[in-house]
Amino acid sequence: MHKSKELIAEIQARETSPQAYPRSLQENALVRIEGILETCRTMDSQRHEKLLTKEGPRGITVHPDPKHKSLLEEILRPSLDDHLKEPYSIDFAFHQNKFPYGIHTDSGYDENEQIYKQGIIPLDVSPKEASVYTVIFKEKVYHSTGFPLKDTSVIVRGCSVEPLQNMSGHTEKIESYLLPPEASQLTVALPFKWKRGSMAIWDRAHLHCSSLFAEAGIESKTGLMWITRRV
Ligand SMILES: [Fe+2]
Repeated sequence: MHKSKELIAEIQARETSPQAYPRSLQENALVRIEGILETCRTMDSQRHEKLLTKEGPRGITVHPDPKHKSLLEEILRPSLDDHLKEPYSIDFAFHQNKFPYGIHTDSGYDENEQIYKQGIIPLDVSPKEASVYTVIFKEKVYHSTGFPLKDTSVIVRGCSVEPLQNMSGHTEKIESYLLPPEASQLTVALPFKWKRGSMAIWDRAHLHCSSLFAEAGIESKTGLMWITRRV
């Protein structure tokens, strides 16, 4: 089931332009976050009844347990509350990817969910000097999807009116050879270059993807993804 027109209108009323915040987190906060990742990864390998780490050829996903989720929230709330103006609940997932994520949305499958903002906090890129991006497109879909879409009518093109230039005070563009071929059908709203201490925030309806790895010599990248719903 898709979200109702009324709910989508309510979600759209709170939407803002995707933004990059270059100096969002201090080094001590990042070190604490990395400590939580290591603890959760170790805990999982010992706790067979409740595996929260998924390891596959494409990389590792770690979902923090409730205690460490609270710790992450404590570290991040001061930074997030500057940008998220509505009451929200939050979830986290660490991703260590060896291959780039394709174009998708994280809009959720709950037809009643009041999806809100999501963001990425880069922790590590290997090799360090290589450039990798999370690319957020103007186009939006209000339930989770991959791309190409089976039903293109769910793209709400009419609401995508964000200006493309200097959205966050930077002019950096991504080279087209770093984008998957399907991206040629879409419009880049924010090319967020991964840099330790920075954070990108966008509305959950936006299609987004990682820039390509092999073309840029990327072996892996590790980041903390967060996702919110209005409560
Ligand atoms: Fe995503």
